[in-house]
Amino acid sequence: MTETHADQQRTNDPVRSPDRFLVFGKPTIEQDEIREVVASMESGWLGTGPKVHQFENDFAAQAGVPNAVAVSSCTAALHLSMLAAGLEPGDEVITTPMTFCASVNAILHAGLTPKLVDVDRRTGCIDAAQLEAAVGPRTRAVLPVHYAGRACDMDALLAVKERHGLAMIEDCAHAIETTYKGRRAGTFGDFGCFSFYATKNITTGEGGMVIAQSEEQLARIKVLALHGMSKDAWKRYSDEGYKHYQCVELGFKYNMMDIQAAIGLHQLPRVVRWWERRQEIWQRYDAAFADTPLETPAPPEPDTIHAYHLYTLLVDEAACGISRDQFLTAMTRENIGVGVHYLSIPEHPYYQERFGWRPEDTPAAMEIGRRTLSLPLSPGLSDADVDDVIAAVKKVLG
Ligand SMILES: Cc1ncc(COP(=O)(O)O)c(C=O)c1O
Repeated sequence: MTETHADQQRTNDPVRSPDRFLVFGKPTIEQDEIREVVASMESGWLGTGPKVHQFENDFAAQAGVPNAVAVSSCTAALHLSMLAAGLEPGDEVITTPMTFCASVNAILHAGLTPKLVDVDRRTGCIDAAQLEAAVGPRTRAVLPVHYAGRACDMDALLAVKERHGLAMIEDCAHAIETTYKGRRAGTFGDFGCFSFYATKNITTGEGGMVIAQSEEQLARIKVLALHGMSKDAWKRYSDEGYKHYQCVELGFKYNMMDIQAAIGLHQLPRVVRWWERRQEIWQRYDAAFADTPLETPAPPEPDTIHAYHLYTLLVDEAACGISRDQFLTAMTRENIGVGVHYLSIPEHPYYQERFGWRPEDTPAAMEIGRRTLSLPLSPGLSDADVDDVIAAVKKVLG
């Protein structure tokens, strides 16, 4: 049978039409948050106010901790945590090369010295045995990242922390739902830092949250997040009458606005429902790609809850007949948005030039970074969207 022109057209047609481009990490916004944002704007209180306060309380209740402090981003949360930990310039903080640049930049903004320790090749999380070996005389803290929503090996990391008296700042940007042996990510370390960036599991547009073991350190973060002004300075224009504020230390402009919290207040109660939907999509991807040469994510470790934030495939060029970068381009041509989480930190020129880091020094992260590709995983994806992603992957594989 000869191939007709129509067949040819069909084969070359993208899985989705360009006007239906599937945006990677599209936030799910419902009417409740739209109404709440409008209400904030109509109330005239746009900045840090009662909605931020409510969002902090709701977040803390959901996390099972007494208090939480909302800030402008997870980057700000990480930065302020390191300041509140009392770390001194020149102190070394060990982190992972398999993360967003913000984790390392926050260490630098706090005047500290970052050191990288490689990840476990299957999990993408920092390797505790290599961490133990890397602790040196200047090491004061460890900053693990629950990569893609997978819990790090917390027993092993806590053992290193305790043995060497290190502070721990958990980067929970992907991990709002993550638990390890029944305990929530962010409650193991001295600080847990969360992100509400637009692509995260819940969003406030931009935003972050800190929880901490020490109420004193958490209170200091609150002060540092708003210019170093004394507690409750945000109430200074309230109807309780003008209140003087005092600057008690040098702070930052890292506060969250009520407009942002208005979104978060309605996203927070949907955490479980959206997690369940992402789990379904994850399982459909796992089943669909089981018989392909793609390497699918490792199953979640027993006695943990994976947050299913990122579905990361690994492309082996020899087995797939296509490189990772060609795969990215081909998926985009099919009108499916994709991501890379992440090129390992030492791939970036800034860190190479400043620290002499080379990708080869952390080979597992280098390999993941050069082979990985993330597929859309938003809870707002319809079953038909998921079918399209699967069809596009299969078409690209040929
Ligand atoms: C692992 C990780 N850490 C930190 C951040 C920084 O978060 P934010 O954009 O809220 O500052 C991100 C954001 O993408 C991230 O993925």
